[in-house]
Amino acid sequence: MIAPSADRVREDLAALARLTDSAQPGWTRTALSEPDVAGRESVLARMREVGLDARIDPAGNVIGVRRGARGGRMLMTGSHTDTVPSGGRFDGMVGVVGALEVVRAFDEAGIRLDHDLVVVDFFGEEPNRFGLSCVGSRALTGVFDTAMLDVLDEEGRSFGDALAAVGIDPATMMASTWPWDRVDAFIELHIEQGPMLEHAGTSIGLVSSITGISRFRALFGGRRDHAGTTGMDRRADAGCAAAGTVLAVERIARSGPDGAKGTTGGVTFTPAAVNVVTEAAEMRGEFRSIDDEWLRTAEETLASCAAEESAGRGVTVEMEWLPQAPRRLDGSVTEMCRRAVDDLGLSRAELFSGAEHDAAFIAARSPTAMLFVPSVGGRSHCPEEWTELDDVIDGIRALAESLRRADAVRR
Ligand code: GLV
Ligand code: MN
Ligand code: MN
Repeated sequence: MIAPSADRVREDLAALARLTDSAQPGWTRTALSEPDVAGRESVLARMREVGLDARIDPAGNVIGVRRGARGGRMLMTGSHTDTVPSGGRFDGMVGVVGALEVVRAFDEAGIRLDHDLVVVDFFGEEPNRFGLSCVGSRALTGVFDTAMLDVLDEEGRSFGDALAAVGIDPATMMASTWPWDRVDAFIELHIEQGPMLEHAGTSIGLVSSITGISRFRALFGGRRDHAGTTGMDRRADAGCAAAGTVLAVERIARSGPDGAKGTTGGVTFTPAAVNVVTEAAEMRGEFRSIDDEWLRTAEETLASCAAEESAGRGVTVEMEWLPQAPRRLDGSVTEMCRRAVDDLGLSRAELFSGAEHDAAFIAARSPTAMLFVPSVGGRSHCPEEWTELDDVIDGIRALAESLRRADAVRR
């Protein structure tokens, strides 16, 4: 039996929480920011302290290896330490801090796995200001889209330049690889970020699938005019076309299948002036569902709503989509996790993830499972995000026991 230390876990979570952009409420360590660089450096140092052979790879992922007795084959675990703006202290961090605690607890219990155990803090899991999420896990699994390097932020700076500014060379990053044929399992521990486990009074969630996501950027082009002298019937108001499209996102998702979601996460008007008809509007949003077919239908429906809102106003519209398919996780690794949770006497439930995770990308290259622990009030992506320490510790015990079971499978 291993005995994770609540004190060490509390301290590791608190140490990361201190690395925040203090100008913002809550906890902010967005990818490409100074606090994020500091956060990943601190994880690198912590990995080395616990005895891992650790480095930051060309894609910004912090990777630490605990050598196994037989070597050659690998088990992987980990999550991310970047946050959304004004986010919380647990989303992602629990999986990284939890993995480090598993290593310490294995050492203390004298447990040496046969497999190499690889701990990863994936770079840039949350959508960055260029609209791209899971940057590190996309790179590591060879699906990073080079076209993204040319996307510009609001200040006209490219994603490629923003990467270079934090020490990531885009060319080298593209060449980043991983020997997936040697990986027998990836298991990610994460907070649920929703209310289900808390409502059911359950300790551990076993994740069956991870949601598909269709993210979009819509650009509306109208005409800049005087707000006081231009008649309502003579305007080409890009802001109004965008506003109509915002409501269409809500409408489409409300009429979607169970669990379907639609969110507009940002709208900007140019010029943002109270007495000028809006010339240009940019809107960013997404649909989520585990039903890939519905996602395609939602994309088409929104595109025609945006076209309708625009055409009637003499406004042009262009939409770009970044689709991400839903992903079923691996049945046999999940079964190992289920047995581990039962052996530990913990309660469990099966659920799908409405949140995105690096595990969705890793699952394309390696058998993958996810373990969830409860989120108080189901809150996440906000400063109130909280998971009780006892629940985090149960998650760490479940992760450790699941890894031991995966280690025992001979290949
Ligand atoms: C990541 O947390 C996401 O679901 O957007
Ligand atoms: Mn998140
Ligand atoms: Mn997360």
